[in-house]
Amino acid sequence: MKIVTIANYKGGTGKTSTTLSLAGLLSQRGRRCLIIDFDPQGQCAIALGLTQEPGAFNALVNTSFDLHQWIRPTGRERLDIIPGDRTTATAQIVINAENRGMEAIRKLLNRLKSEYDYIFLDTAPSVGGIQERAVYAADLLLIPTATEFMSSNGLSQIMTTLGQMVKDGWTGKLLGILPTFYDENPTESKTTLNELKERFKESILEPIHRATILREAPAEGKLVYELDPQHRATREYHALSEYLIKYS
Ligand SMILES: Nc1ncnc2c1ncn2[C@@H]1O[C@H](COP(=O)(O)OP(=O)(O)O)[C@@H](O)[C@H]1O
Ligand SMILES: [Mg+2]
Repeated sequence: MKIVTIANYKGGTGKTSTTLSLAGLLSQRGRRCLIIDFDPQGQCAIALGLTQEPGAFNALVNTSFDLHQWIRPTGRERLDIIPGDRTTATAQIVINAENRGMEAIRKLLNRLKSEYDYIFLDTAPSVGGIQERAVYAADLLLIPTATEFMSSNGLSQIMTTLGQMVKDGWTGKLLGILPTFYDENPTESKTTLNELKERFKESILEPIHRATILREAPAEGKLVYELDPQHRATREYHALSEYLIKYS
């Protein structure tokens, strides 16, 4: 079992879209996948055509209960979810107040070790106890970042956290920084991508282009490849899923 955490303290960088597309595509390729939605916005369930539930809250706060109670099927083979909703914000307060160990989420998820090949953790766009522990739990960390000016400023914060984690004994690896909302035309995208490459070198992955379908899919409760298996966005996420398989 590999835990893949998708994080960036900035909002609207494609974290949720990336979580859903990757987990979906890997489940299609025979991997048993679980998504855990640690963002109080709870968009993962809705994007899959399901309803929000306090699953993440329960998993984090009612830790003596069997985790399986909060797992829901998505109607797709080998793809399950622990949905979240706004109560996750309350769990955040509890986690921060109790100051639980950094390894709290990792320990929790170890209980599901034999049941899933990949567990994807989608996180909220802010600094907090859940996000830190979700990053610490990661075998692989993926950081989506929009290709717009100043995006590397947003990255600095999470890279600083990462540096601290390494000192605290983090055993995970940075899968990469994923440029998103990439658009060939505006020079902004190109300039930003070049800057990112200069600064973060080989950590920068192949970009995901801006694509309307990625906005439409969650509104229809569908994954991008379910709407259009041939779309460039599908192909780009497919390539990323292959990279993830190779890397893990
Ligand atoms: N590459 C993309 N091109 C166009 N729209 C996108 C792309 N990736 C995500 N979106 C849309 O942009 C919004 C923010 O993306 P989301 O994945 O929710 O980001 P985050 O989880 O980081 O806040 C959503 O409406 C999503 O559907
Ligand atoms: Mg999100």
